[in-house]
Amino acid sequence: MFVFRKVVDLQQFLQSQRKLNRQIGFVPTMGALHNGHLSLIEQSRKTADLTVCSIFVNPTQFNDPADLKKYPRPIEADIRLLTNAHCDVLFLPYNREVYPKGKLTKVNMKFGKLNKVMEGQFRPGHFEGVVQVVNRLLEIVEPDYLLMGQKDFQQFSIIASMLEQLNSKVRLRMCPIVREEDGLAMSSRNRRLTKEQRQKSVLISRTLKKARKLLKTATVAEVKSFALEALAEPEEFKPEYFEIVDGRSLQPLEKINPGKLVVACAAVWVGEIRLIDNMICQNEQILYPE
Ligand code: PAF
Repeated sequence: MFVFRKVVDLQQFLQSQRKLNRQIGFVPTMGALHNGHLSLIEQSRKTADLTVCSIFVNPTQFNDPADLKKYPRPIEADIRLLTNAHCDVLFLPYNREVYPKGKLTKVNMKFGKLNKVMEGQFRPGHFEGVVQVVNRLLEIVEPDYLLMGQKDFQQFSIIASMLEQLNSKVRLRMCPIVREEDGLAMSSRNRRLTKEQRQKSVLISRTLKKARKLLKTATVAEVKSFALEALAEPEEFKPEYFEIVDGRSLQPLEKINPGKLVVACAAVWVGEIRLIDNMICQNEQILYPE
C-alpha cells in the first residue's frame, strides 16, 4: 500500500493511474478502523480499479472539543488493517494539507430541512464541518466513486445532496451497517466503552429491531415512546433522539405510507460516549436494489 501525506504526491500518483484508465474508489475515514470501514474498502475494490482510503480526524466537524481530543488514533493498527484489506493507497494528510493557510475551504450550501433534524439538531455545526472536509477531500482525490456507510445515514443524505448541488460526476455508493455478533453497530467510539457499557449497548440495535417490528401494528407515536423508554432504562443510558423518518427527506413521520422508504434512527449517550444507529423499516430495496 502506498502512503501519501502530501496532496501533490498523492495527486501525482493518481494522475499516473488515471492515464492507465484506472477508475478510483474513495473511502474517507477518521481512522480507528473496524470491519465497517473494511467493508467499504472491499466494496470499493469490487467497484473501482484502485482504492484510496483517507484517514483524517477532521477538527471542523467536532462540536465538542473533548470528543475531538479523545477520538482514538491507532494509526499503526489502521495501516495494518488497510494493508491486509488490500487497500491500494492511504492518504494520511497533515492538517495544513487539508486546510492550507489562506485557502477558502468552507462550503456555502443550503440543505433545507435535511440538516436541521437529528444529528443536525443535536450537534450544531457538525455537518458544516463534514461537508467542508468531504468537499475538500473530493477536490484532492477526484475519485470516480465515493463509498460511505449507512451507519451515518444522515451524513450520507447530506453528502448526496452536496454532490447533486455541485453537479458532481462522483458516484456515491452506500454500504450496509456492519454489526458485532450481538447486533451492536460497529463504530470507532465502541472502543471507548467499558466492558459493562459495551454489554449493555446491544440494547440500541435490539430496540431498533423491536421498533421495526412494532411499527407493523402500532402507531409511530407509540413506537417512539416505547423506544425512548426502553433506551432510557439502563443506568448511564440517555437517549438523545429516536425518530422514525422518511428515508429521503429525513423528516419525522407521523404515519407510515406504504410506498416510502422508512428509517428508524437513534442517538444514545452511554455514559460519556454518544452512539448512533439506524435501521431501515420499510422498502430497503430502494437503497439496496437487487
Ligand atoms: O464518517 C466519517 O468518518 C467522517 O464524518 C468523514 C466522512 C470521514 C468526514 O470526516
